[in-house]
Amino acid sequence: MSTPTIVIAGAGQAGSRTAASLRELGFEGRVVLVGDEPHLPYQRPPLSKGHLTGAAARDNLWLHPWTFYDHHEIELRLSKRVNRIDRPNNRVELAGGEILDYDHLVLALGARNRTLPLDGNELDGVVGLRNLAEADDIRERLARARRLVVVGGGFIGLEVAATAVKLGLDAVVVEIADQLMGRVLSAQMAGFVLDAHRARGLRVELGTSVTGLTGTAGRVSAVTTTDGREFPADMVLVGIGAAPNTNLAEDAGLRVDNGIVVDEYLATDDAQISAVGDCTSCPNRFAGGTRVRLESVHNATAQPRALAARLVGRPELYDSVPWFWSDQGDLKLQIAGLGVQSSHAVLRGDVDSGRFSVFCFHDGVLRSVESLNRPGDHMAARKLLALGNCLTPEQARDPDFDLRAHIAAHSIGDPVVPAHRATSPRAAG
Ligand code: APR
Repeated sequence: MSTPTIVIAGAGQAGSRTAASLRELGFEGRVVLVGDEPHLPYQRPPLSKGHLTGAAARDNLWLHPWTFYDHHEIELRLSKRVNRIDRPNNRVELAGGEILDYDHLVLALGARNRTLPLDGNELDGVVGLRNLAEADDIRERLARARRLVVVGGGFIGLEVAATAVKLGLDAVVVEIADQLMGRVLSAQMAGFVLDAHRARGLRVELGTSVTGLTGTAGRVSAVTTTDGREFPADMVLVGIGAAPNTNLAEDAGLRVDNGIVVDEYLATDDAQISAVGDCTSCPNRFAGGTRVRLESVHNATAQPRALAARLVGRPELYDSVPWFWSDQGDLKLQIAGLGVQSSHAVLRGDVDSGRFSVFCFHDGVLRSVESLNRPGDHMAARKLLALGNCLTPEQARDPDFDLRAHIAAHSIGDPVVPAHRATSPRAAG
């Protein structure tokens, strides 16, 4: 019998990590990693941070050097797009006609930026940020621009806006919701982040959306908003969220529901196809067992690891605490857990010092912890959330309550049954 072939479609963090994990766990078959960008697989987080100012060296972006792929016999097919999955024949077709047969196919297709449904998107100076080419372009534009309008007060928008303020641009963020980062942050933390950005010179307009992009001679010159105002701009960054790349899966008849539907072992309904990373919708006990689609480096690392374990015959449940971070100028924000449904927020630390955390509870159970410039709380939170229901709001609030000692006590022979583990992840299907 010939050696089995695993084809990985998508050479971002999740795809590259899948290939690396397969080798780390001893997979000896053929591994082919197909990506449509020309570069070696790279890290995306620096693109909206240090890369824009030149603080992050380009060579530090690569997840691995060329030699890594050679050494581990991972066949890189760069600048190649998978056009079609032929499930009956277990093969994929690449743009240009190349055919790759697979024994197992991994979809690591990522997500793409949403665009404003407006005329004017094509004007010079209206940009989005997802890939390295776009980041390079934005870096050059920031060096020349004077007035930046950022549409969307989420991860990308605030990171770029904070950089622009540091570079001396006049920057304004236009956010449709009535708080910043509403997808992931409590109102308390979002309020602090808002005040901090304003104090550093960023203008933020909440509850406002964009109705028009005006141009002069093909270049953007202003943004008009729902409240009838006009903001002059020589650059507009649109950061209004991402949508999963699911077309290939959908065309192949796989189940898609805000992401390619997988179980907690990353398997699709086709036993020979799995999916990982931003493009997946996966059951998650930290979301009460419902399926969620996560966009994070952690997810793009932990899912491939669990998948590779299954593919080498040692199945591991994908079950690690979700976490995220965002560096917005000097604001270092870290989030552990998924707190969207939480109803009770508890402050730990001193807001005036700019170093504190918000512990978010729901029905008395800790759901997430948002930390600002307090990495110790963040690391503790990841452990506390993994342990389950072992912290009360009173303990979280008490500055003298020793989180590390508490974790140590619960980690040694005193297992805690997580209250929200009662929900079967499969039930959410
Ligand atoms: N006008 C203004 N704001 C809008 C509009 C609109 N028409 N539509 C959406 N928004 C706002 C949302 O309310 C949200 O606050 O845009 C913000 C988008 O924030 P995110 O969902 O965090 O998306 P984005 O910042 O684009 O980042 C996309 O890239 O780096 C990754 O982890 C990051 O997953 C994130 C992804």
